[in-house]
Amino acid sequence: MKTKMQDEVVYGLEDVCINTTKLTQVDGIKGRLYYLGYPIEDIIKNNYSFEEVAYLFLHGRFPRAKQLKEFKDELSSERELDIRLKAILILTPQKGNLMALLQGMIAQLAMYDPEIADRSTEAKRRKALRIIARMPTAVTFFHRVRSNLDPVAPKHELSHAGNMLYMLTGKTPAKAEEDVFEKALILHMDHECNASTFASRIVASTEADIYSSVIAAIGALSGPLHGGANERVLRMLREVRHQYGDDPSKYIEDCIKDKKKIMGFGHRVYKTTDPRATILRKLAKKLIKTEEQLKELKFAENFADTVLKKLQESGKTTIYPNVDFFSGVVYEMLNLPLDFFTPTFAIARVVGWIAHYFEQTSDNRIYRPRLKYIGPKLR
Ligand code: SDX
Repeated sequence: MKTKMQDEVVYGLEDVCINTTKLTQVDGIKGRLYYLGYPIEDIIKNNYSFEEVAYLFLHGRFPRAKQLKEFKDELSSERELDIRLKAILILTPQKGNLMALLQGMIAQLAMYDPEIADRSTEAKRRKALRIIARMPTAVTFFHRVRSNLDPVAPKHELSHAGNMLYMLTGKTPAKAEEDVFEKALILHMDHECNASTFASRIVASTEADIYSSVIAAIGALSGPLHGGANERVLRMLREVRHQYGDDPSKYIEDCIKDKKKIMGFGHRVYKTTDPRATILRKLAKKLIKTEEQLKELKFAENFADTVLKKLQESGKTTIYPNVDFFSGVVYEMLNLPLDFFTPTFAIARVVGWIAHYFEQTSDNRIYRPRLKYIGPKLR
């Protein structure tokens, strides 16, 4: 398998295939996304649940009724946090960054996991479900405590998506809200070899445990060029609306003139609209309950359309809205706290990271690329 070191540096590994995968295909030219061969539009249209799509990623096919019930019961049984973890969350500084909190929590979960040293596939699968099940509980518990509210324990009868909203607000979510939130989570579940998934695969390739792989991925996702963009989209929209009123043209023209990157736009692979942005833009309409929400959505849509138009006029014809633009709008309409946006991305994407962990370790070779030396002359 020895290959000669390639001389050419490919910055950002653009379009470089680092492995094969049977999980997700992203067609950047046509703007299509497929989970194990299923078009994302069909998965959303057919109202699959978070649990069914997570099962698809972890088992390679949709579950039958009995398998789905067992999967849901196992997730439900793993949702609660150990009392000692709750104590850690209570002692965590109220202004703590939620992505750092998630990394710390996953590290704690590893230390409390009796099977941490068990490298069997069955044990890894149980550990995977513990991580998926507990991430929403950790962030919502912390939010309730930092808000001086009583924490809300998960409810067995609620779905994974419904439980997160319930543990956040203390109220069982309305069907429409739960449905939109669940679809938003599904849309974020996997996306081939994005930076955070690549991080999870690199750590998996060293034969580190599944917890370490997820911790690395959360760190990568927190960056503003990656998952951190959705929170910045909302801050940008709020600031622009406050400063410029309903017409964002001046702000957008200045960004383009100053070559400032507009959050929620552009993608390394999609050279047309990100199909997830299209679906999220439609889902947002289902959440409109007030005149103000209608105005906010119309402003966001007009902002996106104006950015696209002005980028095209400036000759940039491959920069379109990506998932982060409208996911921020949807989470705002669901009244998620601003700093919940990227952790919510992680709570969905952890299914993908774990699926890639299993794929990487099933046929593994440690990643070890090269760097082209251009340093001081060798002595
Ligand atoms: C996610 O990889 C994935 O699949 C990621 C993701 C997933 O599901 O995991 O889809 C989730 O991370 C979506 C992206 C969220 N990030 C943002 O919205 C931040 C803003 N976007 C940019 O930072 C950028 O578009 C990236 C990081 C997304 C992609 O960066 P690239 O591929 O490295 O592109 P680049 O920086 O080399 O830019 C190429 C050109 C440049 O112009 P020129 O120097 O050639 O003249 O496009 C321009 C850039 O200035 N450009 C933008 C722009 N993004 C790129 N111009 C204005 N606004 C932007 N947002």
